[in-house]
Formats: sequence, structure tokens, C-alpha cells
Amino acid sequence: MIVVGGSASQRLAEGVAKSLGCKLVHPEVKRFPDGELYIRIQEDLRGEDVVVVQSTHHPQNDRLMELFLLLEAAKEQDVKHLTAVIPYLAYARQDKLFKRGEAVSLKLVSKFIEEAGAQDVVVVDIHEEESVSYFSIPVRNVTAAPLLGRYFKGLGLTNPLFLGPDEKAVKQASSAAKELEASFDCLKKERLTPNQVVTSEKSLDVERRDVVIIDDIISTGGTIVEAAKILKNKGVGRIFAACTHAVLAENAFGRMASVGVERVVGTDTIETPWSTVSVAPVVVEALMKRGS
Ligand code: R5P
Repeated sequence: MIVVGGSASQRLAEGVAKSLGCKLVHPEVKRFPDGELYIRIQEDLRGEDVVVVQSTHHPQNDRLMELFLLLEAAKEQDVKHLTAVIPYLAYARQDKLFKRGEAVSLKLVSKFIEEAGAQDVVVVDIHEEESVSYFSIPVRNVTAAPLLGRYFKGLGLTNPLFLGPDEKAVKQASSAAKELEASFDCLKKERLTPNQVVTSEKSLDVERRDVVIIDDIISTGGTIVEAAKILKNKGVGRIFAACTHAVLAENAFGRMASVGVERVVGTDTIETPWSTVSVAPVVVEALMKRGS
């Protein structure tokens, strides 16, 4: 197997190649003077099982284009099998028509990935599990929640509670909590606008307990802030925020810190200063299980 590390996922690609004990290649990625992207994979990939690792967070369109070009370049070399590992899949949140006249972005993005040459895909904590059905090739959606749970195991938390800030996140909360044999729960959230959410109160026993608010994505931080405010009114101990995809747009970190969030723990699906946990183990596991 050969791992091709896209520019968005250098660290993760290295971790995956190391765990698999296989070769890692760094493609040449350049820009033409007019801004167009150029990529070249110099290594011979003919007859190889090739895994392209490229996340597609901001700037999403550039990173997606690089992914398409890397897949196309590999496909052109007559590889034996071509897998796209897309730790953070851009446009996954526009996975249906919310209003008449919109485009279902994910439907088109999935077509492009297949057209570029991917024969199967690995994603991490995709926004809605069901949306993988836009692909006609096999897709494995793996979760980082147990890895995040394991990270907190080492912190000596007091009677910890893993809390999903909305009902959808209860799945993450329960699977992280399992690692510490801790308890889990969730709040109820309603999104008013892309930047505004209202979270409902709930009877939670958090007095003097350490709470990890866990979600798939932290974007503006608004969801975590609302949850943290509720906890602070209930005499909580320490508050942590954890997520798979630490987008952290628009001073999200500052906003969370201002309501008492002590630490933000993300993964390397998006390589940032908050990428404390690597998803390499679950990506490798998914690659090993292909075809099974
Ligand atoms: C929404 O359903 C997601 O699971 C996240 O809760 C959301 O994307 C977080 O966004 P923000 O940080 O902007 O509140």
C-alpha cells in the first residue's frame, strides 16, 4: 500500500503510513500565476493499492480541487485500487434541500469524488450518517469519539459527565463516556440562524462534577457556549469541550473561553493547534477492514 499525503493532511497521512508500515509520498502541489492548482505525483503507483489522504476544510474549494486532482493523477497511473480518506468532508452539512431552489451540495461533491477515481472512501464523523448514500461506492464513516474519550481518561476528571449539546450528539457522548465508564447525557438545541442557537435547560446533576461537552463539529462555538452557560448556573466543576472537527471559525475559542471552557480538544481531521487527538488508529482500522 502507498499513502499519498495531500497538503491538508500531512500529519495524519504520516501517522497512517507509519501505522501501516507503508510508503508515504508527498505530491508536488503548486499554483499557476493565475491561481489555478497544479499537482504531480512523481512516484510510480502502477499496480499499487493507493490511499489518498486529504481533508477538505477551509479553504474548502481549493482543498476539494486538490483532492480531485490527486485522485485523477493516481487513477491515470493504473493503480490497483484507489481509496480516498477524507477526514473532514466539506459540504456534508448541505445534505438535503432545506429551502426550495437550493443545491444539495453533498450530492454533487460525492459525484466528483467518484468521477475523479475513488473506488472507496473513508470519512470521519460525517454530519449525517445517512448522507453517505449519495455515494455509489463503499463509504466507511468512522468515529473519533472513543479516541476523544480515551484522551480524557488521563486527565483525572472528577465524576465526569460527557454531555452532547444537542440530541444528535448523544451518540458521541455515550461512546466517549464508555471509555471511562462515565455517565453521559444531552441537551436540547434549536438553531435559529447559522450563527444563533437556543439550548433548553434540563435537569442535570452536574454540581462539582467535571463536564466534557462533546460534539461532531465546533464551528462558531455558539453551541458549546450555550451549553456551558447552562452548566455554569448549576455549580459545575471544570468544563471541557471536545469535538472531532475543530473548525473554530470567528474567534470561537475566545468565545468558549469567556464562558469558562477550560480546554478545547479536537482531532487531526483538521490540523490546527487544537488537534490533540489523532484519528489515525480508526482510519487505519477502516483501511484494514476494506472488503470485509
Ligand atoms: C450541528 O448539528 C453540529 O452537530 C454542531 O453542533 C454545529 O455544527 C456546531 O456549530 P457551532 O459551533 O457554530 O454552534
